[in-house]
Amino acid sequence: MHDFLPKEAAALVQLERTFREVTSRYGFAEVRTPLVEHTELFLRSIGEVTDIVEKEMYTFDDGKKSLTLRPEGTASCVRAYLQHSVHGKESVSKWAYLGPMYRRERPAKGRYRQFFQVGCEVYGDEGPVVDAEVIELAVRFIEALGITGVRVLINSLGGEETRAAYRDALVDYLTPQKDKLSEDSQRRLTLNPLRVLDSKAPQDQEIAAGAPQLSSFLTEEDTAHFKGVQTALSALNVEFEVEYRLVRGLDYYTRTLFEVKGPGDLGNQDTLCGGGRYDRMIEELGGPKTPAIGFAMGVERLLISMGDAQKEKHAKEAALDAFLVVGSELETQAISIASQLRSAGVSVDLDGRGRSFKSQFRRADKSGARHALVFGSDEAEAGVMQVKHLESGKQSQVPISELADALIAAR
Ligand code: HAM
Repeated sequence: MHDFLPKEAAALVQLERTFREVTSRYGFAEVRTPLVEHTELFLRSIGEVTDIVEKEMYTFDDGKKSLTLRPEGTASCVRAYLQHSVHGKESVSKWAYLGPMYRRERPAKGRYRQFFQVGCEVYGDEGPVVDAEVIELAVRFIEALGITGVRVLINSLGGEETRAAYRDALVDYLTPQKDKLSEDSQRRLTLNPLRVLDSKAPQDQEIAAGAPQLSSFLTEEDTAHFKGVQTALSALNVEFEVEYRLVRGLDYYTRTLFEVKGPGDLGNQDTLCGGGRYDRMIEELGGPKTPAIGFAMGVERLLISMGDAQKEKHAKEAALDAFLVVGSELETQAISIASQLRSAGVSVDLDGRGRSFKSQFRRADKSGARHALVFGSDEAEAGVMQVKHLESGKQSQVPISELADALIAAR
């Protein structure tokens, strides 16, 4: 599990701010759901024969019920959507969320056991226009973070009819080669053959490469829907690649499926964003038939892809306006000035340990503050401060009564 120390946390906060800004431009409203849910919810939505449910969930008994730390946000959102009968109150709902998720995966760069996701879900719109808009939103958000060189991969898994026909064809293809598959895949062959296609084991990947393509099983309606997504993406100037082999590790997807791959640096963990349509889940969890689509992104992966320059920029934006450097006899006066500045919306800090000017200046430098405010006996007498811009070294004298406005203007 990953600790965010101040510099990285500042970038995280900035990322979350950008996410809220971009999603609200597309009409999404933020929701918050609990970190734990009944285990059963994940079994029924993500699917029992998936890596997440079979191996990765943090599950415990609270004395009455089996609970699980949420491994993702989609199931929780659907549970909340149904519990509060939102479907009866509005025809289309657009939700955004962010927060920690938990999976007991093998840790690696960009893969943690507690990780943060930002995500979006749309209920009540069968697409295909909204599918493209959701993908566009994901891309525009990534761009707004200053990440370039990403690839958008899309595919369609089709609806129920397509899935059933494809499943049969896949079993027919895989069964004669069963002995060559990994143990996991041999077991999944009958339980959930689609999972064999996204197995990481090299022997499985080799066999999966020759498997029949799902695209040739799409019904006319599925094909028209998928074409519609592509037309809308082109109209939105979102570049994409159709990747017929794209399957994802969760069972709930139908029709549109997509991923956004990062520009490198992340090795196997280069999937920044994963999402798709899941038109059956709401009904399967006891609600009315309601189409749905969404995505989630790994925040730590986004932060890695953002690179140091972007993170520095965000740390700078979060920097203190000023650090007060004061003569020790003036400390009481100085804390009261600091308090007034803070009330006026200025961020300011000072060293109250009675240290020398030199050592206070050192702390001012280290703090990353934009300015040092020097307050000695001359300044106290004249009711002013020396305002020193720490990066350029430029200095000016400002009356204390005008200080807050001057520091805000200098941001
Ligand atoms: P997912 O593909 O399981 O989909 O996860 C989405 C993203 O979360 C991944 O692409 C990755 O960036 C990040 N992620 C996943 N696991 C980890 C990990 N262990 N460490 C760091 N980052 C990770 C979902 O979660 C679906 N709920 C997405 C969705 C929403 N589909 C429809 N609506």
